[in-house]
Amino acid sequence: MQTTTVDLGSRSYEILIGENLLDDAAEYILPFLKRKKTVIITDENVAKHQLPRLERSLKGSDISFDTVIVPAGEATKSFTQFESLLEQLITMRLERSDTIIAFGGGVVGDLVGFVASVYLRGINFIQIPTSLLAQVDSSVGGKTGINSRQGKNLVGTFHQPQRVIIDVTSLDTLDHRHLIAGYAEIVKYGLINDPEFFGWLEQNGEALVGGNRNIQIDAIQKSCAAKASIVADDEKEAGVRALLNLGHTFGHALEAENGYNDNLYHGEAVAMGCILAFQLSYKMGLCTEQDVERVEAHFKKLMVKDISEYSFSIDNLLHNMMTDKKMAGGKLTFVLVRGIGHAFLSDAVDMNDVRAVLGDATGR
Ligand code: GLY
Repeated sequence: MQTTTVDLGSRSYEILIGENLLDDAAEYILPFLKRKKTVIITDENVAKHQLPRLERSLKGSDISFDTVIVPAGEATKSFTQFESLLEQLITMRLERSDTIIAFGGGVVGDLVGFVASVYLRGINFIQIPTSLLAQVDSSVGGKTGINSRQGKNLVGTFHQPQRVIIDVTSLDTLDHRHLIAGYAEIVKYGLINDPEFFGWLEQNGEALVGGNRNIQIDAIQKSCAAKASIVADDEKEAGVRALLNLGHTFGHALEAENGYNDNLYHGEAVAMGCILAFQLSYKMGLCTEQDVERVEAHFKKLMVKDISEYSFSIDNLLHNMMTDKKMAGGKLTFVLVRGIGHAFLSDAVDMNDVRAVLGDATGR
């Protein structure tokens, strides 16, 4: 098992990464329970494939638990589910000293973290992420939230978990497209500030998405350590944490234009967004054509979806960007690059360049 710490003073916590940790989950959860009462919140898919392992482990200890199952999919990050979960917890008489277990992918982690942050003004929760995207990104760092009709993650809080428990064997029941989508967030860490890691991924990415356990564990550990370091420096995204949004300004615009449906997963939109961020940086004379080609080649080799398959309206994409929550003082902050592993923040982007890059990428 590998361990990484998110260093936030008295709110620091460990991320445990290994094989079959789910079967011993009670052992890793127990030290954090003030009272041995928990509620597992998960989704239908994870309930079908992985929940029996977690429940067996809790039953084998003296931890009592209730289980709540929400529908799978992005639509679950809603006010309706948020309210329903809170009402259910109140009905269960969950107390301040009890603990919620967020067991699932990014949707479950974000929604349940938000619920935990406001229930009785905030109670403890443990993240057990089961998708690659949640394991390398959303379960770490305490961002929680739901979507509004007007956009993704527009309502939420920062609420750090007590521990993150990552079992790579839960990736075995994840469908291949979801696995690949999560992989994009791993590549992102190399592109932000670790060119060696990107080089390692060029060598090992195929084996990772092909199911090589040791490579998966190494990549998840490296990603969590990268995220932990950024979060420790800037928990509330006043500065450097915004680098983690590489590919996301474009990506969120693509997702919004696609209507947040399963024809384009978040990680796929991030992969497209990273390529667009490199293309924009090249257009602005910031990085080389070779950098763009390397990034494009790596994603195109592994990703299932390509931007050229979609018929996005450039005007709508630009409109979506201008309504993004990363707007400040009427200006949009982009994550740009001076090369692979050299990302930086800029609010000095000419939207005509953005339009041109989108036009080239989508053939419009
Ligand atoms: N997913 C970006 C962040 O947690 O800041």
